[in-house]
Amino acid sequence: MITFMSVLKYEQVKVNAALEKELAAMPAPLRDIAAHVLMAGGKRLRPLMTLSSARLFGAEGEKLYELAVIPEMIHVATLLHDDVLDGAKTRRGRVSAHVRFDVPRAILAGDALLAAASHKTASFGIPELLACVSESVLMTAAGEAHEIALQHSHSHSFKEYEDIVAGKTGWLIRGSCRLGALYAGATPEQVEAISDYGLNLGIAFQMVDDALDFADEAVTGKPTAGDLVEGKFTPPIMKYLEFLPRCDRENFCAGFREGSFTEEDRARIASDIRRLGFDAEARAMAVTYLEKAERCLDALPQRFEQKLFREALEFVRGRKS
Ligand code: FPP
Ligand code: MG
Repeated sequence: MITFMSVLKYEQVKVNAALEKELAAMPAPLRDIAAHVLMAGGKRLRPLMTLSSARLFGAEGEKLYELAVIPEMIHVATLLHDDVLDGAKTRRGRVSAHVRFDVPRAILAGDALLAAASHKTASFGIPELLACVSESVLMTAAGEAHEIALQHSHSHSFKEYEDIVAGKTGWLIRGSCRLGALYAGATPEQVEAISDYGLNLGIAFQMVDDALDFADEAVTGKPTAGDLVEGKFTPPIMKYLEFLPRCDRENFCAGFREGSFTEEDRARIASDIRRLGFDAEARAMAVTYLEKAERCLDALPQRFEQKLFREALEFVRGRKS
């Protein structure tokens, strides 16, 4: 049976080959640094969204892989920058690029990947694609800036959190879907529907990611409870704070404000969060966005790719890493 996972695995091979080509064309001094993250075994979810969207609206051919690598290059650029901003030591189970090389080169490799993605987009000669890519990058940066502005705050609302995740993650997944539809010449209504699907899928993806922050590092490739020290007020942390007795709250809030939790604090809080089921509750909150995304698909062509987009919702819902 052809499933979302089997298509994802199958396409990974071709997407990786297209990414290797892009890497080979990058300036030599930055190639190894970009490769460190680009070829570290990402899921290639964004390229699959672009491929599926283009095919849903009737496009076909090998050129689609050139289109599909664009959001992955942007994604990896954001990760290179993000690990510097977060001071993250590991990514995808490997030491982060800014630790393995250094901060200036990690930032420059991210810049080079962004530029290479723009250049690739321009090569299609379709101005709407460039507008789509630029707005996705702009909104991603805005989402990240919003998160930084509220870093170590433990008093902002869920609405602020939703805006942050829509920006930092939702807009690029939206852009991945939109890119394929624009390339295939979908109608404006279809372009908006698949874009809304992507935005909601992306919000849910990040919410599940934030729940997975409390899973074991062996499973996720990222340190457990990193968000506690990075000062990201995510739903499992919001719920934990609500649950804490008044007498323990001030102590927790001070640690969160200062990012001063020790290894042991992190392990203990992560274990409490899992035991109390706050990570599972946060995952359940993501379902609202998955349902919104699903409704966007109703008016779209009844092709195989529509089924894939539906299965992608299940994939995000059940993500383990
Ligand atoms: C991961 O979030 C980070 C993002 C989804 C976006 C990062 C965006 C920027 C750094 C903006 C500027 C960069 C560009 C190229 C536009 P996370 O830190 O919560 O997840 P993690 O645990 O995987 O690090
Ligand atoms: Mg990070």
